[in-house]
Amino acid sequence: MISRTIRENIYALGAQHWDRRLFDALIPLPDGTSYNAYLIHGSEKTALLDTVDPSQVDTLLEQLREVEHIDYIVSHHAEQDHAGAIPHVLEKYPQAKVIASPKGKTLLIDHLCIDDERFITVEDDERITLGNRTLQFVHTPWVHWPETICTYVPEERMLFTCDFFGSHIASTDLYVTDRARVYEAAKRYYAEIMMPFRGTIERNIEKLSKFAIDIIAPSHGSIYGDPAFIMGAYKDWIAEKPKNLAVIPYTSMHGSTKTMVEHLTSALAKRGVGVRQFELSVTDLGKLAISLVDAATIIIGTPTVHVAPHPAIFYASYLANALRPKLKYASIIGSYGWSSKAVERIAGLIPNLKVELFEPVLCKGYPRENTFEKLDTLAEGVAEKHRFGGYADIMGVC
Ligand code: FEO
Repeated sequence: MISRTIRENIYALGAQHWDRRLFDALIPLPDGTSYNAYLIHGSEKTALLDTVDPSQVDTLLEQLREVEHIDYIVSHHAEQDHAGAIPHVLEKYPQAKVIASPKGKTLLIDHLCIDDERFITVEDDERITLGNRTLQFVHTPWVHWPETICTYVPEERMLFTCDFFGSHIASTDLYVTDRARVYEAAKRYYAEIMMPFRGTIERNIEKLSKFAIDIIAPSHGSIYGDPAFIMGAYKDWIAEKPKNLAVIPYTSMHGSTKTMVEHLTSALAKRGVGVRQFELSVTDLGKLAISLVDAATIIIGTPTVHVAPHPAIFYASYLANALRPKLKYASIIGSYGWSSKAVERIAGLIPNLKVELFEPVLCKGYPRENTFEKLDTLAEGVAEKHRFGGYADIMGVC
């Protein structure tokens, strides 16, 4: 990808990684991703904000081919998809200094073996001038690592946020155009990366709301020419109150658990509760994570394998626990052959979920009328809690 002009002497650099399909050997990337870097020429100094994933270093170096001098490389975040090419840029520009938070410096030394003397550390609200432009550093820790910072350029009312507000999406759109597509990608990104840090995200959004911002430029995905779009979405996602949604991750070996899930889905829908089912042997776990951003209730459906939950349920339960969604209620349903400890084992996997548990519904063999009655009772209980909580239905793109 070529570099593109955002404002006079401010350029979007970086790489579109169209065919990447997995991040951290964990996170599905249906739309690829991008690693954005930004070049700001001031009247006296030049700064590069973030770099790219090491796999894309040649693209960045080509974009910098005619840039003779860089004074500063701002590292907002030490994870390698943004910082991994810093050693290559430092080699090309031996006089350049890396600007990072004190914690960022430590992490960059740990991860990338950058020499101590190449750093300038910046405190919260510290400013460095480029001449006619200023870099104002805003400490925004825990989005999603402890060292993360943003850079505000007051003369342009631009905020550079790295992972914060980002989306895994490869695109030629410099600015967000297809809002529905970006909303889903940004929500997926929030769900998989940011959701466990809702508290610090809320504080950081509050902090950033004091700035006059015309453009948010993240280091994944397109630039926001309307910052209210993504800030509003984040405020909705971090809101304490969940939505009128029950999520049912499940799998089924011989159809009994699936029959129970189908019955429960209908029973919930009949009572006005939104439901999203995820059959774990075929599901995109990112879609499950997106639904967990909003869900008030999770019902885990499992058959029994060697007296325990199905292995796919272990994985999904562990993931849901790690993401710490704002769930309020939970239950477990499923079928077993002769005996089951599925409920006890799943309960032990989700200590982070501060949920009220509904009575599990487990049946031996194929479900019959008394099991369906118990599922109806479960659905009624969930619907009543959702009504009492005043949980709103999910709306589309804001
Ligand atoms: Fe995009 Fe936390 O790295």
